[in-house]
Amino acid sequence: MDIILLGPPGAGKGTQAKKLIDVMGIPQISTGDMLRAAVAEGTELGRKAKEFMDAGRLVTDEVVIGLVEERFKKPDCAKGFMLDGFPRTVAQAEALEKMLKRMGRRIDHVVLMEVDDEELVLRITGRRTCGACGAIYHLSFSPPPASGKCKCGSTDLRQRDDDNEITVRQRLKTYHSQTAPLVSFYAGRGNLRRITGTGQTPEGVFKKVKEALAL
Ligand code: AP5
Repeated sequence: MDIILLGPPGAGKGTQAKKLIDVMGIPQISTGDMLRAAVAEGTELGRKAKEFMDAGRLVTDEVVIGLVEERFKKPDCAKGFMLDGFPRTVAQAEALEKMLKRMGRRIDHVVLMEVDDEELVLRITGRRTCGACGAIYHLSFSPPPASGKCKCGSTDLRQRDDDNEITVRQRLKTYHSQTAPLVSFYAGRGNLRRITGTGQTPEGVFKKVKEALAL
C-alpha cells in the first residue's frame, strides 16, 4: 500500500507513522528526517536546507523531489511506503504522480490529520525526540517513561531547532498557504481520508487511522 500522511506541523504524522510501521511493515519516508540527516552530516544540501528550515519555510521543490526519487529506488519501497511531510506543494504532488506512474503505481490513500493551530503550537513546543532511536515524546501529553530517559535507555532527548514558538507560527503560515491546497487536490482524486485530531489522544487517532486504511 502506498500512502501519504498529510497534515500541519505537529498534527502527529511522525507519531502515527511509527505506529503504522509495526502494523503495515512498510517504510516511513520523512523528508523532514532526510533533510535533518543532511544537516547533521554537514553536506552542502544540508547547509542550504537549514536556512529554510530554521526560518519555517519550505526547502525548494527541486531538492525534496530529488531526495524522494532517490529514496524510492531502495528495495524496501517495493511493497509500499508511507510518505510523511511530502508532498507539501502542488508542484511536489504533481511530480510524485509522474514518478509513481513511471513505477506503475499510484497513491492508495491520503490520510489528512486536522488539528487546531493553538493545539499544534502546544504540541510542537513540548516535543522531545530521542537522538538514539527516534522515539517521539511530549513533555506533558506523552512523557518518556522515566524523566529525561527514553524507553531505549538513552538520555539524549532533543528539542528540534525549529520547534520554538516563533518558527512554529511561521511553519503554520507556510502550511496554510502552500500545503493546504493539497486537500482539494487529493479530494478531487477521491482518495482523501479526513481525521479530526484536536483533543484526541495518539491512541484515539491511531484507531481512526486504522479505520481509514481498513486495517
Ligand atoms: P518536518 O520534519 O516534516 O516537520 P512538520 O511537517 O513541520 O511536522 P512535524 O515533524 O513538526 O510534526 P508531526 O506531524 O510529525 O508531529 P509529531 O508526530 O512529531 O519538516 C521540517 C522542515 O523541513 C519544514 O519546515 C521544511 O523546512 C522542511 N521540509 C520537510 N519536508 C519538506 C518538503 N516536502 N518540501 C519542502 N520542505 C520540506 O507530533 C508532534 C508532537 O505532538 C510530539 O511531541 C507528539 O508527542 C505530540 N503528539 C502527537 N500526537 C498527539 C496527540 N494526538 N495528542 C497530543 N500530543 C500529540
